[in-house]
Amino acid sequence: MTTKQKTGKTKDLKGLKEVQEHYLDYPYPLRNPEDDKTRILKIYGDYLGEINHWLFDGKKDFKKGFRVLIAGGGTGDSTVYLAEQLKDTDAEVIYLDFSKNSMAIAQKRAEYRGLTNITWIHDSILNIPALKLGKFDYITCTGVLHHLESPDDGLKVLADSLTDDGGMGIMVYAQYGRTGVYQMQDMLRMVNEGITSRQEEVKNGWAVVNALPNTNWYKRGGAELSGDLGPYGDVGMYDMFLHKQDRAYTVPQLYEFVEKAGLNFVEYNSAYSRVMLKPETYFQDPEFLKKIKAMDKWKQQAVCEIMCGSIVKHSFYVSKKKNTIAKITDLDNVLYIYIIHDIPLKIADHIKINQSRIGSSIGFSFKSDDIPEVSISIPVSHYTEHLFRNMISGDKSLGEIHKAIEKDLGKKVSDSEFLDELNRIFPVLEEVGVFLQRNKKINIAQFC
Ligand SMILES: C[S@@+](CC[C@H](N)C(=O)[O-])C[C@H]1O[C@@H](n2cnc3c(N)ncnc32)[C@H](O)[C@@H]1O
Repeated sequence: MTTKQKTGKTKDLKGLKEVQEHYLDYPYPLRNPEDDKTRILKIYGDYLGEINHWLFDGKKDFKKGFRVLIAGGGTGDSTVYLAEQLKDTDAEVIYLDFSKNSMAIAQKRAEYRGLTNITWIHDSILNIPALKLGKFDYITCTGVLHHLESPDDGLKVLADSLTDDGGMGIMVYAQYGRTGVYQMQDMLRMVNEGITSRQEEVKNGWAVVNALPNTNWYKRGGAELSGDLGPYGDVGMYDMFLHKQDRAYTVPQLYEFVEKAGLNFVEYNSAYSRVMLKPETYFQDPEFLKKIKAMDKWKQQAVCEIMCGSIVKHSFYVSKKKNTIAKITDLDNVLYIYIIHDIPLKIADHIKINQSRIGSSIGFSFKSDDIPEVSISIPVSHYTEHLFRNMISGDKSLGEIHKAIEKDLGKKVSDSEFLDELNRIFPVLEEVGVFLQRNKKINIAQFC
């Protein structure tokens, strides 16, 4: 193995022993390193295009001096994906986790992919200050902070490790969607009282799960929502129902968590959350919608989280500085598509055969293996078909698209007309999350 390895000298894993032992016995998520010989597992939120769009104004050149920390890297999903995208750069990719067995799986996966750009650290997040790792441009920490005795302390350590223009991708559990999961945890605590063998806890867990009636809260909704049991077996059972340190956040608690660490909440990085947390998804009555929209944004989202009821995770970006999202008014930006690559063509063709709808809105639904179905409604003008047709190649800047539209239409389109069009269309697309922006000069690998 050609990767570098570093081991922290200050092993102070106080209070975390139970969680550490859990992940030694059951490394999460369950992964077979052999699978990495033939595939790249995409981890949404960690695609460089997303990181660039949401955290670096579309202008980050990942080629020089980029530093990434994967805090609580588990069996290596984010580490392998980020290292793969950054392998032709001088970027430093640093993996840190306090489960040796999880790290061993992650290392095997990296080895099978031939990745030599990762530094491996076996230690606790809380020891990061003592490790003197320097500052990071991007930190990803998913499914970890909610397992700390003090998630606030953990987030503060990570916030202090960011560069001044750095950002972070975080995932913590969401409260309401996991209601059934927490009921199961309560029950299994009673069933497993006095039991010290992890295997026996798991055995009892299956006995309970296999006997659940359809009236049970987890069975009624949770099974689809928190479905780790099927693919991950005992590993999923322990992580979901038998965890010894697990908390979840409501939207207001999430905003408070971020603010306390001195960070800015940028945006949810899952299209599902963005759609499910906006009032328009539920409320059609214009008067009522207006009332809800008059609330602070976090409060609108707090209402929507309860309306939805099925958000089980909050996945989001935070940043040190404000205003990090790429701007549609920047005509040097390329508007490009990821996940569902044929969307612009489909939309352009749909508008072409529905010319009578120009001046009103046309609805589209998108779905892929990776994202749940989301529907959007696009306000269509005489320019819209040309806008999407010129986006198909994925390499034209907005300024170039402006010129191409003028050529297509054989007439001048003023800057303000073009920007109006973008401002009407783009917020809808950005929310769906399959369109990103990057500066024309930034060339991002298409691992998406
Ligand atoms: C649920 S797993 C998530 C793994 C990975 N982030 C992912 O999303 O696939 C949680 C991981 O965090 C690690 N972890 C928990 N608390 C930690 C701490 N204080 N320091 C370092 N690692 C920790 C565990 O060992 C485990 O690998």
